[in-house]
Order: sequence, then structure tokens, then C-alpha cells
Amino acid sequence: MSFRAVLAWPLAALALLAASVCASWAQDYPARQITMIVPFAAGGPTDVVARVVSAHMAQTLGQPIVIENAVGAGGTTGAARAARAAPDGYTLITGHMGTHAAAVPLYPKLAYHPEKDFEPIAQLAGTPILVLARKDFPASDLKAFVAYLKANTDKLNMAHAGVGSVSHVSCELFNSILGIKPTGVPFNGTGPAMNALVGQQVDYMCDQVINAVPQIRGGTIRAYAVATPERNPSLPELSTTAEAGLAAFQVSAWNAMFAPKGTPEPILARLNAAAAKALDDENVRKRLLDLGSDIPKLDERSRAALGRLVQSEIARWSGVLKTAQN
Ligand code: MLT
Repeated sequence: MSFRAVLAWPLAALALLAASVCASWAQDYPARQITMIVPFAAGGPTDVVARVVSAHMAQTLGQPIVIENAVGAGGTTGAARAARAAPDGYTLITGHMGTHAAAVPLYPKLAYHPEKDFEPIAQLAGTPILVLARKDFPASDLKAFVAYLKANTDKLNMAHAGVGSVSHVSCELFNSILGIKPTGVPFNGTGPAMNALVGQQVDYMCDQVINAVPQIRGGTIRAYAVATPERNPSLPELSTTAEAGLAAFQVSAWNAMFAPKGTPEPILARLNAAAAKALDDENVRKRLLDLGSDIPKLDERSRAALGRLVQSEIARWSGVLKTAQN
């Protein structure tokens, strides 16, 4: 019998053993608490989405899901941390259009790649972008706001959650449409950035609806428009950018769950099913819908659908940002 033939048997046995260990491991999953990395500060939109969905998933999976806010560098610090974690299903991340798409063209030496270093689990919430300003900003509508920004750019500052964050890239697009380059003020998330806006320490921000609804209803900030074709059901009185004369500014972000590349398929399937169950729960839906987010439709919930979204969004933002920064 040839050497190769002799070698084949033990290798086959080893592969069989590995597959059966993996299967039993996945069968017992989860056997202990799961860490969910949120790459932005507590209280921001990604943190809210992660906590609302994870709380329900923990009930389904029968183990606690502990949120860990690992902040910095527009969310890429936490995303890099998740990419390096053991692919065992016990470290996950709630990322989004920034960390898992727009960061790629913005960071030439990004420590991870959203497609090569992550397994898509599920889309969690679509989050339309709003144009926001401090409460006493001297402009009564979007047209006046744009005119004021153009005339006073060097006196104004724009809050965001770090280069590559949703708030950063959304306002990069907004600023490029206006032809302005204001001073950017980075925060570890739009939770703290919103506090600065409410405190009138910054002038304006492009942020996800989830973070803005409570402040708008409380009258602590100004909202000029929502950057989607239709008005947002949670803010029916807020004009769309098209109605307000800036149809070119259309942006809706998304938040989604990922695991490190190599996480076993049965574990990914369990997590995807638990996320889908959370998105069908009436309390979870009410929380997310009341905050103006869109719940992924059935055909958007598969792992493959999220993989396609990440791929197309990397391409889209690579184009948008190249134009915006020229
Ligand atoms: C957050 O949760 O702070 C935001 O998603 C940050 C951002 O991307 O703007």
C-alpha cells in the first residue's frame, strides 16, 4: 500500500473526529455567557439596538449575553477586537454600515476586513439618518440651515462618532453636497455626541433616527429633515430631505450582528434563528419601531442576505467617499 494510502486512513479518521467534536460542541452551544461587543459608547444607537435584540436572544439561547462597549477609532477598535476573538460563538459584535462597510475605504490599514474576517449572522435594524442641530441654531428650516452652514462654515463644528462611523460618513456626504468642510468633533459614539448637541457644545450632526427621536420629542435639539424618500412613522411631522429641497441627500444606515470568521455553521444558524425570533417578538418590534428604525423583512434576514449587503455597501461607500473627499 502506498505511503499516501497509508496516510489517508488516519487523516480521514481525524477529520471525522474533528467533525463530530465540532457537531457536539455546536449542539451544546451556548454552554456559558456570550459577550456582545458594541464598538461605540453606551446609550448610542448601536448600543440600543444591540441591547434590545440581545436581551431577547439571551432568553431564546438560555445564556446571558453581556454587552461590552469597546470604543474608539470610529468603531474600528471594537471591530478589530471581535475579528481576533476565538471563533467559538462566545464573542459576537453588533456592527453597522460604518464598521462593516464605510471603514474599508477610509482606513487603508484597517486591522480587519468585514468579509474576510467575519461571518454574517443577521441584519438587526435599518436606521434612517436625520439632519440635526442644537436647539437654538439660527435657521428655521433646512434651506435656511444649508444657507447658514455655507456662509459660516469656519465658525461651525459638526459632531460625529469617529472617522468611518455612520454619523461621520453620512455628514461627509451631506457636507460634500453643500461643498463645505466644517470642523469635525469626534466622540466615542453618538450617545455622548448627542449630549454635546443637547448641551449646545457642538452645532450639528447627522445621526441615526434611534438616537434622535427622544431628543426631538423632548424639544432639546432641532431636526431639519430625514434623509429617506418617505417620512419616518415615528416623526410624521418631520420633512424628508426631498420635501425640504435637498433630495440629493439620501442615507439610511443599518446595524447587524457578526461573528469571527470560522465560527461553526451550526452555531451561526442558531444565532441567526435567535435573532429572527427577536425581530418577530412584539416587544422588540415595538421598541425598535417606536425609535423610528426599520425591521428587516423576511428576505433580508438570512446570513447570505447580510453577506450580500456588506459586499454591496463596501462598494457603494468606496464610491461615495471618493467623490465626497475630492
Ligand atoms: C453609535 O452607536 O454611537 C453610532 O452608531 C455611532 C455612529 O456610527 O455614528
